[in-house]
Amino acid sequence: MGFIKNTVGRKVVIAVTGQLMVVFIIFHLPGNYFNPWAMTFPAIGSFIWIVRLALLLSFVLHAFFGIQSELENHKARSGPYAVTKSLSTTFAAKTMIWSGILSGVFIIFHLLNITVSVIDESFQDNYAVAIGYAIGLSAVCLHLYHGIASFFQTMGWNSEKSLPAVTSIGKGMALLLFGGFICIVILNRG
Ligand code: HEM
Repeated sequence: MGFIKNTVGRKVVIAVTGQLMVVFIIFHLPGNYFNPWAMTFPAIGSFIWIVRLALLLSFVLHAFFGIQSELENHKARSGPYAVTKSLSTTFAAKTMIWSGILSGVFIIFHLLNITVSVIDESFQDNYAVAIGYAIGLSAVCLHLYHGIASFFQTMGWNSEKSLPAVTSIGKGMALLLFGGFICIVILNRG
């Protein structure tokens, strides 16, 4: 358990679980275009349960350690030796905890809506739900606008030379995901 109390260990858990969810989202997008019901994975059988369990565990660990790190950082920042100047410059980097929490709320709503079907309203028929999807998607993509490149930084797979390319690829992927998913919401509005 020392690994979990260690802040570097926790950062690695946040990074790896975050990236696992990113890999899922990358497959989710073409899945929706080629087969609108792809998220039920009918042909893959019990493999779906392994994927679901891995994603659920990733989501819980990521959210738990993300919120815990943020609370600890906040306490350290408000202490007597606090250095208030933030090293992160972009809006996306500075708002990671808020875009993360909003993404979490959106994902729980999305699962209750599409996967479990306990929320019966669809974005096709209900403007409020469509707007909710647009806001949720914006939060996820803002989170990833910083998060994808940040993953490589955390893992130590970045150098001064590769940084601009990695940052641009991360931002580009986040924008592409946003564009792809928002089109589904817009094109399917009746
Ligand atoms: C309850 C939901 C979530 C919360 C509270 C949350 C919170 C956080 C926090 C606090 C960080 C660290 C930010 C930093 O060090 O600057 C982070 C990083 C990250 N998150 Fe999330 N997040 C959530 C959901 C998600 C989702 C759904 C995804 C993917 C689809 C995701 C992907 C990432 C990635 C890739 C990183 C970068 C890891 C790194 O810096 O090494 N997060 N998240």
